[in-house]
Amino acid sequence: MRIDVVSIFPSYFDGLSLSLLGKARESGILDLHVHDLRDWTSDRHRTVDDTPYGGGAGMVMKPEPWALALDELSAHSDASTIIFPSPAGEVFRQSRARELAEQEHLIIGCGRYEGIDERVFEYAVSLGDVHLVSLGDYVLNGGEVAAMAMIEAVGRLIPGVVGNPESLVEESHEDGLLEYPSYTKPAQWRSRDVPEVLLSGNHGAIATWRREQQLERTRTRRPDLLGD
Ligand code: ADE
Repeated sequence: MRIDVVSIFPSYFDGLSLSLLGKARESGILDLHVHDLRDWTSDRHRTVDDTPYGGGAGMVMKPEPWALALDELSAHSDASTIIFPSPAGEVFRQSRARELAEQEHLIIGCGRYEGIDERVFEYAVSLGDVHLVSLGDYVLNGGEVAAMAMIEAVGRLIPGVVGNPESLVEESHEDGLLEYPSYTKPAQWRSRDVPEVLLSGNHGAIATWRREQQLERTRTRRPDLLGD
């Protein structure tokens, strides 16, 4: 998969050369390119923002650098999916991560300030499949941290990125429930015991216990996932 990220702070993404995603990049499974939006400006100050029409606080990102960036980057593939992280977007869920992991080319446009001129989103529709995606109901200073979270959530679903694909199956949100609790040695630690059933060797009983734990945790911590 190819991912192009556009930001005015490209160095945010330096951390993506570490760990599993770093290895995926080295092996070529993940072809990640990070670009500076200012490279698509033409004035001496490399200006990317201006004051909002209608007044109001803050600055708005100008449309032309974004259009030039999207024109150039979308030409790398016949089918680009263009994502704009935004607190005004649809909430990002595991189901969306799974969908995105199947795409050949993602472009992620990270807005800053009060956002991007709205016409950019309309224009982008002519170049790809466009999604405004929110990390959650809170406001970040810009799309970069949200983009990193999405790249990690999507990247680890690309076949070959996570060494043991079975570890992807039994984790939170994969079956609509939270993950069951995990324990490792020692069996007794600071007066706390590992649940007996996990030491029993009875795989059926362990599977039942884990399922019950998933349901109980989801019911208490995230009843919304059960539709309650
Ligand atoms: N940019 C600012 N806040 C955001 C959020 N909650 N999700 C995605 N992008 C954002």
